[in-house]
Amino acid sequence: MKNLHKPVKKAVFPVAGLGTRLLPATKVMPKEMLTIVDRPLIQLAVEEAREAGIEEFIFVTSDGKEALMQHFQDAPALMENLQSRKKLDQIAKINKVDLPASALKSVKQDQPLGLGHAVWCAKDLVGDEPFAVILADDTVLGEESCLKQMMTAYTKTGGNVIASCEVPMEDTSKYGVFKLADRDGNIFSVSGLVEKPDPSVAPSNMTIFGRYILQPEIFAYLDKHETGAGGEIQLTDAMAKLINDQPFYGYVFEGERLDCGSELGFVKAQIAFALKKPHLAPEIISYMSAKLKESIL
Ligand code: G1P
Repeated sequence: MKNLHKPVKKAVFPVAGLGTRLLPATKVMPKEMLTIVDRPLIQLAVEEAREAGIEEFIFVTSDGKEALMQHFQDAPALMENLQSRKKLDQIAKINKVDLPASALKSVKQDQPLGLGHAVWCAKDLVGDEPFAVILADDTVLGEESCLKQMMTAYTKTGGNVIASCEVPMEDTSKYGVFKLADRDGNIFSVSGLVEKPDPSVAPSNMTIFGRYILQPEIFAYLDKHETGAGGEIQLTDAMAKLINDQPFYGYVFEGERLDCGSELGFVKAQIAFALKKPHLAPEIISYMSAKLKESIL
C-alpha cells in the first residue's frame, strides 16, 4: 500500500501568468513582484512555505519574469555597497530573503495553457513525492500561515489537502468549488470538485483557496492535458479525477483571505498588512479616520 503520509519538502509556485487583472501595473513588472507594504507577493509566499517546512522552491515561470528568481539570489554589488556604508539593518533584510542556490529551481511554462498545465511543467522537478502548490496572489493574514495549518492537518490525514474558504453563493463561478462529505472541525472529506461552476449548479459555496498539498499521482491525470473550464488545463479537473483513487480533504484555514490579484483585494491587503506593523499602525489609523470623516461629510 502506498504511503500517503510522506513529509512535504517541495513547493511549486506557478508564476508564469500575465497578471491582466492588474494592468497597467503588470505591463512590465511581474504581478508577483508587486509589494504589500514592504515585501513582494512572491516573498510573502516563499516565507509562508519556509515557515511550513518547505526546503525546495520550484518556480514555474515565463519570459519577462526573471526578477522573481533574482529577488532570492545573491546581489553582490548591492551587498558591497551596504557593507561599505555599514547599513546593518538593510543587510539583515537582504540576508533574510536569499535562498541557497540549491533550494531554488525554475522551469518555463512556454504557453499559458492553465494552472493544471503550469503544475504539470514542474513534474520532473517534483519527482515521486508529495508537494505543495502556492498561488502567490492569494494572500492570508492570520496568526499562523495557511500552509503551516495545512501541514498540521496533513500529519493527521495524509493524502491530498486543499485550502478552502466560504464565499457568497453568487461568487462560485470565480473559483474551484468543493462537494463536501463529512466535516470534522476544520477538516472535511471531499467527494467532488468543480472548476468555476455557475451558482445554480455549484455543489456548495466552499471554494478552493490557492494552497494545495498533493500526492505525485496527480501528474498521471495532468499528463493527459485535457482542457476544462475556460478552455484551460485545470488543476481542479485533475484533482477531481484523483479523488476516485486517493483521499482528499478540504481544510478551512483560520485567517483572512486577501485576493491580491484584484484591485480591491490588493488595496485591502496593503491596509491589513500595514496595520500589523507597530511603527505604521497609529498613523494609518488616524489617516484613515480623517479620510472617513472627509468621505462622510
Ligand atoms: C485558480 C483555481 C481555482 C481556485 C483559485 C483560487 O483560479 O483554478 O480553482 O479557486 O485559483 O484563487 P484562478 O484564480 O487562476 O482563475
